[in-house]
Amino acid sequence: MRILFVGDVFGNIGRRVLADHLSHIKIEHRIDLCIANGENAAGGKGITANLAKKFRRYGVSVITGGNHSFASTEAVEGLESGDYVLRPLNYPPGNVGVGKTIVRLDDGSKVGIINLQGRTFLSEALDCPFRIGSSAIDDLLRETPIVIIDFHAEATSEKAAFAYYVDGRASAVLGTHTHVQTADERILPGGTAFISDVGMTGPENSIIGMKPSAVIRRFLLQTFARFEPSNEGPLLCAVVVEIDNRSGKALGIERIQEQLTFS
Ligand SMILES: [Fe+2]
Ligand SMILES: [Fe+2]
Repeated sequence: MRILFVGDVFGNIGRRVLADHLSHIKIEHRIDLCIANGENAAGGKGITANLAKKFRRYGVSVITGGNHSFASTEAVEGLESGDYVLRPLNYPPGNVGVGKTIVRLDDGSKVGIINLQGRTFLSEALDCPFRIGSSAIDDLLRETPIVIIDFHAEATSEKAAFAYYVDGRASAVLGTHTHVQTADERILPGGTAFISDVGMTGPENSIIGMKPSAVIRRFLLQTFARFEPSNEGPLLCAVVVEIDNRSGKALGIERIQEQLTFS
């Protein structure tokens, strides 16, 4: 099985990349299932119910989230779209939305997907992603050997530590959140595919998606400046993970980083 995982889809430009390019990218790479991180889909802040539906039309089966999943009332409503819109599993119980799901493909195979959020430099108060993630993997392994994890975190060490912690039990641990694609993709000794960060699908001419001027102003003046999403330089960042259907082990992981144009 070949799974395409698209890194943080950011704002209007990221959505247009999916609308214009996802279908042919899926054909070109012989993709069976597409997962995308949508935590920045709505102008950088979460994903609305309407945008989640559009993602599905573009060819995304499951949308994962992160620290922006709860960024607005509309984003919280987006989490109620159904179990194809995930938010990190390790938020305190009682929050809306779900953090794991199973997708059934046409050939009868099942894929388990888990969304987790790291704590280092990000959200110290969340429940432990290692313990919550490990028990979620055990749950899904009772249904399918194929388990994909979006580990949304700031620190590369936390992402790598989690990947080695679950090596051999998860098919892939794919890092998101920094919006910068790392070049460390590999298969760990137990058969888990890993990359520290898949990168951003959005405007390359930006500072992690935002127009540079206000970001620079905040650094210089140390006071509030309103960030605005950039609209320049469509970029796709993704990975293709090839998985053995019977064992759930990864056979390969390939990075994709493409500068695109719109028709
Ligand atoms: Fe993000
Ligand atoms: Fe994030």
